[in-house]
Amino acid sequence: MRALMSSQRIRWVLQRTELSMRSHRCQSSSTQTSANTPQKTKFGPLEDSDRIFTNLYGRHDWKLSGAMRRGDWFKTKEILLKGHEWIINEMKTSGLRGRGGAGFPTGLKWSFMNKPADGRPKYLVVNADEGEPGTCKDREIMRHDPHKLIEGCLVAGRAMGAVAAYIYIRGEFYNEASNLQLAIREAYEAGLIGRNACQSGYDFDVYVHRGAGAYICGEETALIESIEGKQGKPRLKPPFPADIGVFGCPTTVSNVETVAVAPTICRRGGSWFVSFGRTRNSGTKLFNISGHVNNPCTVEEEMSIPLKDLIERHCGGVIGGWDNLLGVIPGGSSTPIIPKKVCEEVLMDFDSLLAAQSGLGTAALIVMNRQTDVVKAIARLLTFYKHESCGQCTPCREGVGWLNKIMWRFVKGNASTQEIDMIYEMSKQIEGHTICALGDAAAWPVQGLIRHFRPEIEARIEAYAQTQHHVRKATASVS
Ligand SMILES: Cc1cc2nc3c(=O)[nH]c(=O)nc-3n(C[C@H](O)[C@H](O)[C@H](O)COP(=O)(O)O)c2cc1C
Ligand code: SF4
Repeated sequence: MRALMSSQRIRWVLQRTELSMRSHRCQSSSTQTSANTPQKTKFGPLEDSDRIFTNLYGRHDWKLSGAMRRGDWFKTKEILLKGHEWIINEMKTSGLRGRGGAGFPTGLKWSFMNKPADGRPKYLVVNADEGEPGTCKDREIMRHDPHKLIEGCLVAGRAMGAVAAYIYIRGEFYNEASNLQLAIREAYEAGLIGRNACQSGYDFDVYVHRGAGAYICGEETALIESIEGKQGKPRLKPPFPADIGVFGCPTTVSNVETVAVAPTICRRGGSWFVSFGRTRNSGTKLFNISGHVNNPCTVEEEMSIPLKDLIERHCGGVIGGWDNLLGVIPGGSSTPIIPKKVCEEVLMDFDSLLAAQSGLGTAALIVMNRQTDVVKAIARLLTFYKHESCGQCTPCREGVGWLNKIMWRFVKGNASTQEIDMIYEMSKQIEGHTICALGDAAAWPVQGLIRHFRPEIEARIEAYAQTQHHVRKATASVS
């Protein structure tokens, strides 16, 4: 029964996603390419005048007066008065895809909220949990540019007819929550949010809700449970949050970056945003680069910038030089690692990384040079996922524990080569068979490792077997 429900759910989701992607493709192709427009072949570097996040490094005043000087809250009233259809249309034209990891088309997602009213209030929930290892972009927005997010909440809220936004921020982000709360107070005092927000006739509240630091609370339905005061455990979908979300009301959960770019898209136009990046991969994007680079950083760049350019231009290159690169985890810890030869060519966007059997995810690159113990690095990630599993589904609760145990034996080489195929098969049995995508997130790093670094695991198993053989021989000769 459960398997049936699960396969029905997957079919339903796939149909829905396929439909949405189809409509997105039509919309993108009509706005991005015409017979006379040559396809773009060069992506990045981004001009300063095209940056949305102009205080990413906290060099300027993050409060209201500084934000207004940088262009935030400019003509927000006019945007609100244009109405929800206009805003959603601009979002669709922009081709923006969710920045929280899954890359679902934002305009389409927000449009799911515009069903006939049934008396229930609607809510926007902003996902500021940012738990994916390697990811550190949303915190920079909340710390250094909180008004961009608050204005974004108002615009997104108007697009979906929401009465309020709940910003769910992870508990460890103390400074970020504090700056955000102060900025919200400034916005209330200036009449920008609250009753008759920006004198538009629209009432809209913004609340900050602090979490307690569980990775699973970033999953949208677990996050909703957590806001409601329950344990953060994902819900089965359907029903989707747009039908039954927080407090049983229609809700949309969107990532901080997704929401924060909405006012600029409305001001500069969806067609401006769509002019960056490749078809279906449009816009500017925050990238986080950590690991073995000379200058780890967070930077806004054009979508589809080559991975190599991103590292060479913004991070001062790989420690030890490009030829010392081993591989990169390109989109936060759950995306499969890609080796150097793939990194040479791949573009930093959804489709290019998918074609490379990885993903853009949160666009957080973890760079590993040849001095890295790659088997140990992936084993460490599995320990994280095992720890963070909420335990509701057997494949995740038990399976990720097994992956973790075997991975740590691989680190020593204390395993048999058949176990490489076995762990791969096990990861395939977890992927797609769980309530939420944490199961997939744990399976993919193992799959990436085996796909590209199998000889490394085999060499360890061989070396371990040799040492055991010598030990046995030595013990036998002593006795
Ligand atoms: C285990 C897990 C953790 C997640 N953590 C986050 C997170 O910290 N921040 C986030 O925006 N999305 C996270 N997501 C994705 C959300 O479920 C959701 O897709 C996203 O917030 C939607 O926003 P978007 O449409 O703007 O991308 C997570 C998903 C899973 C399965
Ligand atoms: S996949 Fe894992 S984290 Fe997600 S609901 Fe199932 S047990 Fe919980």
